[in-house]
Amino acid sequence: ILLNRCHYALAIQHYSSSIRPPIPPFSPSSINKSSNVTQTFDTMLDFRRQQARRTVLIHLGRSHSESELYKLCSRIGQITNMTLYTANKKECALLEFSNEQSVNNLLKITSHFTNENRLPCASRNLYFSSQQTGTRLKYHPIGREVQQPDDSIIDKSLNDIRNVSDQIRFFWQKTKLTELDTRLRFFVSSLVEEAFGSIFVDTVCLPFGSSVNTFGKSRCDLDMLLTFEDFREKNIKRDGKIPQLRFLTKRSYLNDRFQAQAYLKILADTLKHFMAECTNVQIILPARVPIVRFQHRLSDLQCDVSMSEFKSSYYMSKLLWNLSSIDNRVAPLVFAIRRWAREASITQSTPGPWFSNFQMTLLVLFYLQSIEILPKLNYINEQPTTTSPQDILAANVLGDLSDDTILMNELENIRYVQSNKTNNSSLAILLKGFFTFYENYDFQSLLITLLNRKNMSKSSLIQTGKDKDWPIYLENPLVPSMNASKNLVESEGERFRETCKKASEILSHSSKNLLSLFEECHQILPDDLIARAYPAPISIMPDLETDINQDELTTINDIQQDQVFHNTHQQH
Ligand code: GTP
Ligand code: MG
Repeated sequence: ILLNRCHYALAIQHYSSSIRPPIPPFSPSSINKSSNVTQTFDTMLDFRRQQARRTVLIHLGRSHSESELYKLCSRIGQITNMTLYTANKKECALLEFSNEQSVNNLLKITSHFTNENRLPCASRNLYFSSQQTGTRLKYHPIGREVQQPDDSIIDKSLNDIRNVSDQIRFFWQKTKLTELDTRLRFFVSSLVEEAFGSIFVDTVCLPFGSSVNTFGKSRCDLDMLLTFEDFREKNIKRDGKIPQLRFLTKRSYLNDRFQAQAYLKILADTLKHFMAECTNVQIILPARVPIVRFQHRLSDLQCDVSMSEFKSSYYMSKLLWNLSSIDNRVAPLVFAIRRWAREASITQSTPGPWFSNFQMTLLVLFYLQSIEILPKLNYINEQPTTTSPQDILAANVLGDLSDDTILMNELENIRYVQSNKTNNSSLAILLKGFFTFYENYDFQSLLITLLNRKNMSKSSLIQTGKDKDWPIYLENPLVPSMNASKNLVESEGERFRETCKKASEILSHSSKNLLSLFEECHQILPDDLIARAYPAPISIMPDLETDINQDELTTINDIQQDQVFHNTHQQH
């Protein structure tokens, strides 16, 4: 017991997992059980969302005993998984029960702090203080998450691997989202859903983007969509009768965009004032897609919540997930190329007239289609049954994808299309192939598209003179004829091609490997481009945790009210 206490005292000082008593590495037992249900994107989403609702996140107080916590919780219900980790120098436990009722029962025996002025709010962010320290179960099924190492540590290990293909796979293994990362992402989404759902019925909050599309790197941001119904179930018909009793509700006078902004403002207020562990809440309305941005401390996640374009984000995630699941070389290749692009300053962490990670992913997928490892999307070429491609385009532009059954069927079925099994190229060959492909690609006259187009010429899609200036035309696979790379400037297209040429030359030498590729392509962004970075989006909500006087706050609130009123007024 004494030794254990020493261990804990040291651990509190250093928060280093290496000093802590050894805990067996995490074993995702519940995932193994669920492998049958995680077969499609939707069943994966459903499973993860359900799992998140059966989960609580506990900040472990000083001198805690995880065994004591485990024993306490197992008296409430069956624990399926308990994973320990450190975030922001705090020891935490993510604890999953086998059913939701156990979470409710646990919350019933959870009290509020009595010794401080705190708001009477409840959530599944909890705090645990031990009554006794050092009592450890002899065999306890608690796992400790081993965090993904930093790039510098990974690079050292890469040096010891001789084969480029093995290096790529190792790099992917060590940088992709871990099981805990994924659980935490769905957990935070379920917290947002619960917080907002306490005001508005049928709230759904879905993670999207790299958190779910298999291309997520450990510590990447968490993108979430907020909506009021599970639109995937929208087509489930009621029995045709209108219920006799209906809720009396307020009427919304705002159009979709302004209503979404009004909801986001309410969400920002809710997170800022009432949700434990959510800090640095900002609302960014002037952005192309308005978002609420915040930090969830116990998971150390940077989160963005949006409301508009939620359908396109969901479908895009589903498309990327499906394409990735067709061939196990896709994700490792995307990871290696994204890292190369970051080293070469082809991509940046902030938006600007350069490539984004998302665009880089589309480039990789297009290349893999061109060598027939991945299938093309056929939905615009199929003979339309009820919906024409023009209707699909019109519907997509309006943000209404609910009717395009052709697209939905395509997204459902694409992963069952057999990839070309004769192309067994190694990852090393594919990596070099990517660079050679784009080094020689005629961006000037050809499109880059995941759709099965017979005519690949840019001019077949570009209608207006102004649009002819786009140096690269990367077609949005969900919105045919729309360029998803309008932000790119010509010099960046050219720099991309030159850097591909350099990369291809580096990989031609047998002595060079993945690490030499990263090191030798390393460059910083040209000065003239740094000046062209997009200005940081303006948050209209100051952070209350920084000192702000009440008068200032009132003024800001008034301005916001005026804005909403003005916008509404204009709209009518
Ligand atoms: P990270 O850099 O790892 O965060 O990758 P990400 O894929 O999550 O990118 P990001 O957070 O910038 O965007 C989230 C998601 O929004 C993407 O995965 C896409 O589904 C979608 N998205 C981003 N940029 C665009 C764009 O230019 N056009 C369209 N149609 N969708 C986009
Ligand atoms: Mg993202």
